[in-house]
Amino acid sequence: MQRILVVNSKGGCGKTTLTTNLASYYAAHGYTTVLMDHDPQGSGMRWLSQRPVERPRIYGIAPHQMRSDMTRSFQMKLPPDTERVIIDVPAGLSDLKLAEHTRQVDAILVPVLPSPIDIHATAHFIQVLLLAAKVRSKNIRLAVVANRVREHTEVFHKLERFLATLKLPFVAKFRDTQNYIRAAQDGIGIFEMTGMTAQRDRAQWLSLIAWLDQNETMGQEVAFLSSYRANAGNPL
Ligand SMILES: Nc1ncnc2c1ncn2[C@@H]1O[C@H](COP(=O)(O)OP(=O)(O)O)[C@@H](O)[C@H]1O
Ligand SMILES: [Mg+2]
Repeated sequence: MQRILVVNSKGGCGKTTLTTNLASYYAAHGYTTVLMDHDPQGSGMRWLSQRPVERPRIYGIAPHQMRSDMTRSFQMKLPPDTERVIIDVPAGLSDLKLAEHTRQVDAILVPVLPSPIDIHATAHFIQVLLLAAKVRSKNIRLAVVANRVREHTEVFHKLERFLATLKLPFVAKFRDTQNYIRAAQDGIGIFEMTGMTAQRDRAQWLSLIAWLDQNETMGQEVAFLSSYRANAGNPL
């Protein structure tokens, strides 16, 4: 199972868009997928409620919308065969909450808009993630995704340089397009849209999916090494 947290202290940078499209990608590719919506505004759950029944199922868990006639732990329970959990959190979390949310995740994605205000806020936020949430010491993989991009701007290059100094990857760049808005209205993601209109956008996601897939490969390498060591170096 892989848990992917989508987070940034800024609102409106594309957290929910990233969450819903990732969830729809994995569901459409046959993974048992859970969308966990920690945002009290519940945009992710609203998207899920629009999802056509004939589409591959995505399980929704919303800690802010718990029913009082069932226990919390029952409602928070993941389906037993869960393979992907995509977690959407609200903007402006306290350092403490942030540390809580990063506790049990495998990868963190930080979407950022290429505007000076967003880039400065995100640069600060990444430092908080590294210091307060101690993301590096927990071995959590962290990457930045540029959203609604117009490349070749000076401020965008500044962000690239800043990320390079932190040795953080810029794993994907998504363009600004109505396709995301249309898909969101229909409870689907751009990978589930028919026709050619979103083809360019789908291509922009492949580097992100490949980066996330490395998580499994790395996990397998660790498992291989530990079982190799347990066997005292005997060839497996
Ligand atoms: N790449 C994009 N192109 C066009 N519109 C986008 C794109 N990404 C996000 N949006 C729109 O921007 C708004 C904010 O995005 P959202 O994902 O809700 O941000 P957040 O969850 O970080 O607050 C939404 O209306 C969404 O549809
Ligand atoms: Mg949101």
